Amino acid sequence: MRPNPASQPRTWIGAVVALVMASGCAALAHPTEADARWAAKRTPGMTLASLERGRRIYVERCSGCHHLPLPESQPADHWEKVVDKMAARAHLSEDHRDLVVAFLASASARLRDDEHATTARSE
Ligand code: HEC
Repeated sequence: MRPNPASQPRTWIGAVVALVMASGCAALAHPTEADARWAAKRTPGMTLASLERGRRIYVERCSGCHHLPLPESQPADHWEKVVDKMAARAHLSEDHRDLVVAFLASASARLRDDEHATTARSE
């Protein structure tokens, strides 16, 4: 039996959509060890675990009013100002604010590949 060529792409797209929906936010990056090193240079004590916490707080607290902007949607050093503006709306504590900033800024630096380049040059 010949497969119906027209139905195949749709099946494939359906599977991808189902997968993305099942995994929640597949497109939001998870932090890496390199992100943790980047973040620790700016905020001593930041670890991979703190960045994962920052990511979780971001997903839980920043998604109520709008879609979650991707980390790479802003340059790394814009995030602090943006999160400061949003922290009151999201009722973030100082600690949580710092974690969210560290997650977003370090992921942005890696994904936009701008700040990492700066850091590498200054080492
Ligand atoms: C109570 C609702 C609410 C919550 C919670 C919230 N935001 Fe927003 N956010 C808004 C609104 C409204 C805008 C539209 C621009 C504005 O009014 O400043 C916005 C805009 C943004 C923008 C676009 C850039 C800008 O400055 O306009 C970013 C990025 C953003 N929010 C990030 C966040 C982050 C990060 C958090 C969690 C710390 C968060 N938001 C939580 C309401 C919210």
